[in-house]
Parts: sequence; C-alpha cells; structure tokens
Amino acid sequence: METEFVLRTSHKNLEHITATWQAPSNIALVKYWGKHGVQLPANPSISFTLNNCKTITKVTAKKAAALDFEILLDGVAKSSFAPKIKSYFNRIKEYSPWINNYHFTIETTNTFPHSSGIASSASSMAALSSCLMDMEGQLTGQKMAMKKASFLARLGSGSACRSLEGKLVVWGNHDDTPGSSDLYGIDVSGDLHPVFQDYQDTILLVDKGEKTVSSTVGHELMNEHAFAKARFHQAHSNLTKIKNCLKEGDVEGFIKITESEALTLHAMMMTSHPYFILMKPNTLSIIDEIWKYRKETSVPVCFTLDAGANVHMLYPADHKESVDDLIKSKLARYCQNEQYICDQLGSGATTV
Ligand code: PMV
Repeated sequence: METEFVLRTSHKNLEHITATWQAPSNIALVKYWGKHGVQLPANPSISFTLNNCKTITKVTAKKAAALDFEILLDGVAKSSFAPKIKSYFNRIKEYSPWINNYHFTIETTNTFPHSSGIASSASSMAALSSCLMDMEGQLTGQKMAMKKASFLARLGSGSACRSLEGKLVVWGNHDDTPGSSDLYGIDVSGDLHPVFQDYQDTILLVDKGEKTVSSTVGHELMNEHAFAKARFHQAHSNLTKIKNCLKEGDVEGFIKITESEALTLHAMMMTSHPYFILMKPNTLSIIDEIWKYRKETSVPVCFTLDAGANVHMLYPADHKESVDDLIKSKLARYCQNEQYICDQLGSGATTV
C-alpha cells in the first residue's frame, strides 16, 4: 500500500456530491508493455496527450450504507462495464475510504465513435478518477490533487495515469527523468520544442472490431518472454533519447524512435508464447505508403501503433494540408468505411 496517497484528513459528511470531468486518450511514443504487482509498469513510457478523443463523465454520489454504483454509457445502463469498475473501486477504497459510504451513478460518453477500435479505458479511467478526486476535494475542502487522480487512474488502467495533466507525460521510474514514478504520470511538457507543441495525430481506423488478445493478456505474456530483459532495457534508453529529440526539435530522431517503438511492441506480441498478431494487412499497406510518401516528399510524417490494427499518423501542424491530401487520395481506402479521426496534442483532464 502506498501510504502517501491514503486520505487522512477529516472531511465533511455530505448527503450528495457531484462532479463532471472530461479526460482525453493518449498515445504512447515509448510503449509500456509488461507489468508487475498492482499495475506497476515493467518499463517507463512517454506519451502525447490527445485533445479530441475524450471521455466525458458525470458522477453523482448519494450517501448509502455501503459502496455501490451504476454505470450508464450514452444514457443506457452498461452492466458489462461493472466488473472493471468494481475491481477499480476495490483497489482505490483503501486510499479514499469515504467512497465506502456512497452510491455512485456514473454517466459517461465518448467523443469518438463507440467500438472504433480506440481504447476508451485510458480516457474513461482518467475522467472517473478526476471526478472522484474533485469530490474528495469537496469533502475535505482542499484543492484537488491531480497527482492522486493520476495514481488512482493507474489502478483502473495503467496508461490512464498519462491522461491527466500536460501534453507530454512520463510514467515509470526513469533515471534521466527527475520526479518520475511507477505510481503516477508526470507532466514533462516543459521540455517540448515548439515544433512538437501542436503536433497532429490522425488515427486511421483500420479495424474497429474487438481485439483478439486483450492488453491484460499481452502484458502478462511479457513475464516469461525471451526478450523481456532486453526490451525493458531498450525502453529506458529510448526514453532518454526521445526526450532529447522532443526538447531539441529533432524530428528525424523522433521518427526513428517512435516507429521503432511501435514495431517493437508488435514484435513482442509476435514472439510471445502464445504468439499473436494484432496488425492487419491494411496496417502494413498504410505503413508502406507512409514510408514511400516520406521518401518522395520529405514531409516528416511518421506512424505509431497501439495494441491494435489502427495507425496513428504523427506530423507537425505545418504539414496538415499535404498529409490530408495523402490520406484522402491514398490511405482512406485502407480504413474501415474510410473512417479516420483527426486529433492533435491537448493538455489533459478538465472540469466541465
Ligand atoms: O493501459 P493498458 O493496460 O491498456 O496498456 C496499454 C499498452 C499500450 O497502449 C500498448 C502501450 C502504452 O504505453 O499505452
């Protein structure tokens, strides 16, 4: 148990409390893949916070004899979410014991299409944790603690702890990142060169179906993985290097590390036991087109991948028009129903 985050101050006894927050998704540049203990990362990671892909959550709490909750997605009761929320509440109640005396109504909605293949766990756990910390602030009369919100979000979904604060966030102990922690994400956007400040992320929706292997299983498979040690070591070194590129405005260096990290993540999946592949033929076609385009035009557009088939295209805002043309003329055809989402860097969770 992390005693630093246990609520110890006395608090009010309010009959009703409510809070509404929105939190964005994030896209990792150096990937977190592998975990231990209670949601502790096997290696440090760094991500861009997104702006448009977000979850908006309203939580209403009413005094009750015991902890209980109901959850609605777009106004409709969603019992399939209950096990995940239940285990989240079970993990966080030792840190915020007041929740034991409330019934929570959680109303949530995503700005990105449901089942678009974009994981909503990061944005939804960040939004829910922000609401709960806002409420904790109302009870104690103290300023809302964003660090604890990130800590709680991590207990819901690891990468969610990177969706709270700042355009660029590091999560996980890293020797070259002062203040970094396995317990929560820290904002390192102070070190972001202007060229990266308004970076674009266009997400090409290659496959909107359910993933064949969940992230939970994928993380677990790193435990006995033949290349785990080398991979974790590499993540530390890539993090040092990419932070330098982000600070110096070295777009070429950034591209090399970002694309290598994406392929390494998927290489880990392909060399796990059991092995699996989450990329689709169209994922590879898009990567091929991006490489060809970059070579022909020198437009510094690159790709990264999540644990899925969709492709995130990352590029400086200055090149938006040319990349838009590329997508419309060559890449949209590889997307399911020609769908893609235009996003860019954002600053994290905000109250609504
Ligand atoms: O937070 P989780 O358990 O869904 O894992 C996310 C893992 C990746 O998205 C593949 C990488 C990352 O760092 O976000």
